[in-house]
Amino acid sequence: MKSRFITFEGIDGAGKSSQIAAAVALIQARGITVLQTREPGGTPLGEKLRELLLHEPMHLETEALLMFAARKEHLAARIEPALAAGQWVVSDRFTDATYAYQVGGRGLDATRFAQLEAWVHPHLQPDLTLIFDLDPKEAARRLSGTGQAPDRFEREKADFFERVRAAYLARAAADPTRVRVVDASQTPDAIRQQVEALILEACF
Ligand code: TMP
Repeated sequence: MKSRFITFEGIDGAGKSSQIAAAVALIQARGITVLQTREPGGTPLGEKLRELLLHEPMHLETEALLMFAARKEHLAARIEPALAAGQWVVSDRFTDATYAYQVGGRGLDATRFAQLEAWVHPHLQPDLTLIFDLDPKEAARRLSGTGQAPDRFEREKADFFERVRAAYLARAAADPTRVRVVDASQTPDAIRQQVEALILEACF
């Protein structure tokens, strides 16, 4: 069976992270080796860049370029070798997050990102992207319930997350075969069923 690259996306607090383990288990139960990873991060250098990106004040374009720097390292060191070895890759975020956060949320110019994307991964796109869609007010409630100190992104206001959400939904509308929307307002069990159905339909 062909290797697959699956990404999970959504605004902060939409609940995707807790669903990724279940999705990985579903795939592994079919005898497939899965690399579970995340962005920014996924490599020793990428995790250092993640720490800076989440906590260090910086210019918005520095933020955008560091996202792609971390991504290049992630692709070269982990994602591309895993796919070449026939493994599946499940990543908590990828380039759709840059279009949602840096273009939608921060308002940077999308054409710059098309150039960076063509440079960093000219021949690779996820086979399936699941966008966890949730009202930013509900996501903020969920985040505040965790008791953890918010990072640079989580501290953004509701209107930032409205723009990020709209950018994600625009990605889904533009490429409805690859990018599928999960209703993240449902119960964890109902969300898991949506995720499983989408993966089974698109990848097996
Ligand atoms: P996480 O909270 O899902 O681990 O993601 C870390 C944060 O990084 C999240 O707030 C979204 C943000 N992010 C971007 O702004 N652009 C990107 O390209 C990626 C991968 C993440």
